Amino acid sequence: MEKEDVLILAVESSCDETAASVVKNGREVLSNIISSQIALHTQYGGVVPEIASRKHIEKINQVIREALEEAGAALQDISAVAVTYGPGLVGALLVGVSAAKAISFASGIPLVGVHHIEGHICANYIENKELQPPFICLVVSGGHSHLVKVKDYGEYEILGRTRDDAAGEAFDKVARAIGLGYPGGPKIDKVSRQGNAQAISFPRAKVADAVYDFSFSGLKSAVLNYLNSCEMKGIPICQADVAASFQKAVVDVLVEHSMQAVKEYGLDKFAIAGGVASNTSLREALAKACAEQKIAFYHPSPVFCTDNAAMIGVAGYYEYCRGVRHGYDLNAVPNLRLGER
Ligand code: KG4
Ligand code: ZN
Repeated sequence: MEKEDVLILAVESSCDETAASVVKNGREVLSNIISSQIALHTQYGGVVPEIASRKHIEKINQVIREALEEAGAALQDISAVAVTYGPGLVGALLVGVSAAKAISFASGIPLVGVHHIEGHICANYIENKELQPPFICLVVSGGHSHLVKVKDYGEYEILGRTRDDAAGEAFDKVARAIGLGYPGGPKIDKVSRQGNAQAISFPRAKVADAVYDFSFSGLKSAVLNYLNSCEMKGIPICQADVAASFQKAVVDVLVEHSMQAVKEYGLDKFAIAGGVASNTSLREALAKACAEQKIAFYHPSPVFCTDNAAMIGVAGYYEYCRGVRHGYDLNAVPNLRLGER
């Protein structure tokens, strides 16, 4: 390690992954440890907040220790401890925030609180070394669907957001309704490959007064209505066709809004982030649309799309470079807004 290297130790515990990472100079991931609770929550059909918090407490120290070991770093090599402090489940967030504060207090290393969505966006910097703001980013995860203009490092303008369900939430709910189980996104992604996306015509919702806002609850209801009416008529459903037609309805809206924003703001770079960004069909459709518009398309590898701490380390680095420091009064903020400090 060179003396001038900036090493960030990052901690993430906002939902159901306990994660820690060491990131060098903002773009090089030295370690990325993720302890997933998915198997644990699967038996309940979704994340149970109380169980998530307890599991984070059990795992957090071990995960942080492993991240330092794998990076070959000691605490004295670390320039700052970055931690997700919102948005997310309050009890889950508190575990990471408390661990990061304890490390900072005991070692004197500065503390930097990071917005979870900023982390998702910054995941794009890991494998795309040349990517720099400004660009448009579509953030689609289990809890969020945002269309964001990334004006500069740490500077964001939200162009649109979901009015109801997040895209990933819609995937999870529809998957449950057609008997695929939790987590729904990857399962719908897989089963859709065997289905016909034109088989059922589901609605593409538009929000009248806000062109970039999303709404997925009407689509979810349309799928449920379709399933009910098939049941009442005694018609067997084709799981793959429902999955593929639903997925196509989500993808069409996400692509249309994204391309409209890129055009209106005159930017030549577009990125995607969040768990749903690992969806094969969405990636293919966006890659095609960007190629047609002659726009550079950026996306993180699937491991950096779903929750991880490396993305928090990258965002933490840029916040640290901007001079952001948090005190020991840093608290978990479950509904923290992007751009708020
Ligand atoms: O970003 P993430 O790990 O957590 C949040 O911050 O919410 O996103 C998790 C969400 C879940 O709703 C999951 O079903 C969805 O991302 N997801 C996918 C895929 N992989 C994960 N959705 C569609 N296709 C996928 N391949
Ligand atoms: Zn997330």
